[in-house]
Amino acid sequence: MECNLRPESFERITNSNLAKKFIDEQVELVRKQVGDKKVLLALSGGVDSSVVAGLLIKAIGKQLVCVHVNHGLLRKGEPEQVVEVFGKQLNANLVYVDASERFLSKLNGVTDPETKRKIIGGEFIRVFEEEARKLEGIEFLAQGTIYPDILESDGVKAHHNVGGLPEDLQFELVEPVRLLYKDEVRVVGKELGLPDEMVFRQPFPGPGLGVRCLGAITRDRLEALRESDAILREEFKNSGLAGKVWQYFTVVPDFKSTGVRDGKRSFDWPVIIRAVNTVDAMSATIETIDWAILQKITDRILKEVPMINRVLYDMTPKPPATIEWE
Ligand code: XMP
Repeated sequence: MECNLRPESFERITNSNLAKKFIDEQVELVRKQVGDKKVLLALSGGVDSSVVAGLLIKAIGKQLVCVHVNHGLLRKGEPEQVVEVFGKQLNANLVYVDASERFLSKLNGVTDPETKRKIIGGEFIRVFEEEARKLEGIEFLAQGTIYPDILESDGVKAHHNVGGLPEDLQFELVEPVRLLYKDEVRVVGKELGLPDEMVFRQPFPGPGLGVRCLGAITRDRLEALRESDAILREEFKNSGLAGKVWQYFTVVPDFKSTGVRDGKRSFDWPVIIRAVNTVDAMSATIETIDWAILQKITDRILKEVPMINRVLYDMTPKPPATIEWE
């Protein structure tokens, strides 16, 4: 087993040259570790798994099998981007699994946030396991474990951990970015030529939109959430806020309020905007957003997203609130 802690001599990866050197070293190490065997990777499209995929494609090409599970709770355009970047541009061995219906039916009527998380996490493992069993000759499992995962937990991506693969699928691990901090992973990703949209992505929770579509998830509110989130992201990008604000998203609660549409009373859902800054996600402050930008986002959401009649801005820091609503 390799050393789990970062040696004092480890040089922080802050620029393209250092990233290049790191990539060359890792390519060698991975080739040595896996030989001509196959490696499996759950590719969410997040920064860490995308950078691991980029590195491994460089090192072992088609010996890497990426599985992208679309649980139906991803943001607008995300699964398409994974297929475009990894399947088409990088010509990776990519298995795309659209499991949306399966996740949504399991979540039907479930209101408790932690139960929702457990269902999403557990179902994810099951879908991944089913795909792994269909593949022949896999001996290694690649993971986007990064250094804070090792420092904060026992070396697994353990946020709300729901367990792992069954005993008979315990592959040897390949974790090429396990000694890197997030900012270094981004420098490596940039050097690998991954698109900025992937490399500089804001954090996105594993259960995805599932914890932002409050209470029991319904298809209409989930769609409203996905569309309003896409509008928010687009407007943040246009106004230069995207690179400045740590995390920003919309939330759709499970209550309605009265409104007026086309001269008639309506009874529709609200959308809540949340935009926070933090260093370690343990505490957070809210971003002070220019009124005109908020107004534009509000106008667009009200015009473009069906069944929404109110837009609210969440002013609460963490603590007392958490960043997510569930
Ligand atoms: P909270 O809401 O606890 O969130 O203030 C802190 C950070 O953690 C993210 N988060 C999650 N990430 N699975 C994840 O992978 C989860 O279940 C989960 N819940 C919260 C949240 O987006 C924020 O960045």
